[in-house]
Amino acid sequence: MQPTFRSGTPVVYGWGTFDRIEDHLPEGDCFLVVGRGSAEKLKLAEIIKGKVKEDLKVFKGVEPNPSTATVDSGAVSLRGSGANYVLAVGGGSVLDAAKVIAVVAAHGGSAADYLIGGKDVPDSGYPVFAVPTTPGTSSEITPFSVISVPEKKNKVGLRTPEIYPSLAIIDPALTTMLPPDQTAATGLDILSHAVESYWSARSTPITRPLALEAVKLIREHLPTAFRDGGSRTGREGVSLASIFAGLSFSNAGTTVCHGISYPITYDTGLTHGLACSMTLGPTFDRLIERGAKGLDDLASSFGLTKETFSDGLRSFMKDLSAPTTLKEAGFSSGMKRILGTDLEANKGNMPVRFTDEDIQAIVKAIL
Ligand SMILES: [Fe+2]
Repeated sequence: MQPTFRSGTPVVYGWGTFDRIEDHLPEGDCFLVVGRGSAEKLKLAEIIKGKVKEDLKVFKGVEPNPSTATVDSGAVSLRGSGANYVLAVGGGSVLDAAKVIAVVAAHGGSAADYLIGGKDVPDSGYPVFAVPTTPGTSSEITPFSVISVPEKKNKVGLRTPEIYPSLAIIDPALTTMLPPDQTAATGLDILSHAVESYWSARSTPITRPLALEAVKLIREHLPTAFRDGGSRTGREGVSLASIFAGLSFSNAGTTVCHGISYPITYDTGLTHGLACSMTLGPTFDRLIERGAKGLDDLASSFGLTKETFSDGLRSFMKDLSAPTTLKEAGFSSGMKRILGTDLEANKGNMPVRFTDEDIQAIVKAIL
């Protein structure tokens, strides 16, 4: 029998914890994985060089929505580096890539073998220490990794408890350099994780309060973090929301909003959190139409009612300068492509059985 609730990663949380990262790193050589933007801005490699116990190898340049090619090249570097552990510092893309790099480097094959070939993941391969510089995906505390797979023309998730990071160091101070547009997009990803995991068929009495708390924190603190990037209260609130939402959705999963977002993101490059949050309101409305129960608590955690949720969420998003339709985001309809995507797993997670007509109605609402 599966456990009711799993939380696989110890967390060090707090403002300024990154400054003492050396207290948490093991002996031995470090393989540092970083991305493009934040790594340069924060001068991460230089800072970490002075803190690791022994040698430091750096794998730079993980792109947003990282591809299997990036993971495979990272795995070759890690294997040749002689490092004992992986330190991933960056956004969700960097953390997701690092988790699979560790597996491929240790257990062989290619990233695609694990993502679409069903190759077994015996363990994490290397200990992975995860330090998020954006609070969106909660990848530092989840057993998921989402990688772009060209063979599938889509993003594919790897989900196994073996890839929980060994330790998450969550320092909200690192997120203060995030520009407003990315603050909005990553915050809306957190909101999507919270809302979808709340109504998920796999939600439990343990996950639902975590999801509601995350929704409340996003409502209260995301606008502040968006307007005033240096606000400690705003950044701490959003980082905490990411932890609560991460604990909830890593157990209860996400639903059709995430499923619909993947082909949109793959085709248009629209940021993940924006693509997911666009369908939250239309999906909520569809659930009400289909007679789903228990959504009052969700609406009231956002200071709204069942009747006002969809409109209220739309104006919340507009205040964050986030698009509420694909047209507003500058893209033309991709209806056929979205409807051609396999959403069975996401549909199975809905609290009422969703049909193709339900998906059609949701997609129509965001064109
Ligand atoms: Fe997400």
